Amino acid sequence: MTGELSPIDKAKFVAARRAAELVEDGMRVGLGTGSTAAWLVRCLGEMVREDGLKFRGVPTSTRTAELARRVGLNVVSLDEARWLDLTIDGADEFDSDLNLIKGGGGALLQEKIVATASDHMVVISDISKEVETLGAFPLPVEVVPFAWQTTQALIEETLVSMDVLGRAATLRMNGHVPYVTDEGNHILDLHLSRIGNARQLALVLNQIPGVVENGLFIDICDTVVIGYGDGRVETRDINQGTVEHDRLDFVETENLFTDLAD
Ligand code: 5RP
Repeated sequence: MTGELSPIDKAKFVAARRAAELVEDGMRVGLGTGSTAAWLVRCLGEMVREDGLKFRGVPTSTRTAELARRVGLNVVSLDEARWLDLTIDGADEFDSDLNLIKGGGGALLQEKIVATASDHMVVISDISKEVETLGAFPLPVEVVPFAWQTTQALIEETLVSMDVLGRAATLRMNGHVPYVTDEGNHILDLHLSRIGNARQLALVLNQIPGVVENGLFIDICDTVVIGYGDGRVETRDINQGTVEHDRLDFVETENLFTDLAD
């Protein structure tokens, strides 16, 4: 029930609830991955069940696909949908230009493909993810398993000439074994502390053999919906230069709050 939700979860929930209202009948919508995106999927499930909303959802991970099917969404692949009206996803960091670090949940590759194939990308977040400069959150980089240590060394060497504060890369683990993404790859987390030129870094990282994709989302996100623990919601649109403020009530709905698995 909502009484058990932490302020951060309430903030994520109201951001997701507000963003869910952007989904209209007939749309093709990218569905992000992570705890905030999971709230979105639950909200959309409720809108499908109770309001008869009809749309097709393209999940960005097997986790999201499972949840989406469980709550009754019409799930299709990106290739079936071809192009999306909208993608709604969480983020690990966002700056004032709405450039992002993503991939904390390990789904950055599908997330970037899906967001890039969308007319509009909306990030849903609590305020703790807003930063002046990207980089405090370790930057996830998806690498192929073959010779990942060589790729790690190449990345660390490349970082010497980049405008970053740190350059240690660590292999993401899942217990005692390397984390494996939906595409069968590994993730290196780059501990950079501060990224001076995120656009340049994003391009350079992807030139390194063995790197599949990095978690910098540059010029992809259009809108951020920021939730607060007291129900306030702020919507910033980078293209229109608008900021809207709103407040949502927490509506306790059995179906929405009983299933808290990500
Ligand atoms: C997954 C992501 C997530 O969007 C990001 O990690 C934020 O997650 P959460 O909503 O749980 O805070 O990029 O790859």
